[in-house]
Amino acid sequence: MLLTPDAVEPLLRGRFGRPYLWSESCTSTQNVLRGSVLPEGAVAVTEHQTSGRGREGRPWQDVAGKSLLVSLLLRPPAGTPTQQLALVAGLAVAESVEQDRDAAGIKWPNDVLLEGRKVAGVLLEASEGAVVCGIGVNVAQVEGELPDGGAVPAGSLLGVTGSAPDRAALLVSLLEIVEHRYDAWRRSGLAPLLDELESRNVLRGRRVEVGGEAGTAGSIAADGRLTLERDDGSTVLVGSGEVQAQQLD
Ligand code: BTN
Repeated sequence: MLLTPDAVEPLLRGRFGRPYLWSESCTSTQNVLRGSVLPEGAVAVTEHQTSGRGREGRPWQDVAGKSLLVSLLLRPPAGTPTQQLALVAGLAVAESVEQDRDAAGIKWPNDVLLEGRKVAGVLLEASEGAVVCGIGVNVAQVEGELPDGGAVPAGSLLGVTGSAPDRAALLVSLLEIVEHRYDAWRRSGLAPLLDELESRNVLRGRRVEVGGEAGTAGSIAADGRLTLERDDGSTVLVGSGEVQAQQLD
């Protein structure tokens, strides 16, 4: 079933998803909201992107109708540490895909893993005081329909769990959980989210390389940075970058 306004809007329960902009195809849902004057909570959804993008300049591929391709417009207060939204959104995506299943892992800052496979990713793009939070979830792709060659092998909810959830229900639940976690972050920062993030931190104790540093990953610090213990025993906090790690589960 397509994620048309008719299918999705009656299910919405919170502020996020209003207005709800749907297209059968677009370049990228990020482009739909970039520079927009719409209010916080506006959401763009498509069935297929012709130029979907991921973090670090990578493409984000899809097969029409088999993923969630969502962008959400956020307007955090000036001066707030918006890079923490990567963790806020990553946690919400993890919680939405794991419902009634084993906990989803988070590969800092926001890759979402089930059984060692990346099933979802988050891309934050800030401009003109707004943040466009892009979320891609692989729902129903089968082997051969997923990209090769990522730092973590890609998977879909269907491939990992044996069944694909209803996409409209998953989308509505995702928006509700993101809203709940975002509101908590706006009230109190990362503190109320840290335990949940840490319990999903698949990097802790792993040998990793990130941003020119190598060592053993530790916990997620109170400000959202990743703790890294270098081989000489010193500790450094990493604020951004793509983590290369040995096999993750
Ligand atoms: C990543 O893991 O590299 C982030 C992937 C983000 C993909 C989503 S799909 C919806 C939105 N539109 C895009 O072009 N990218 C994000």
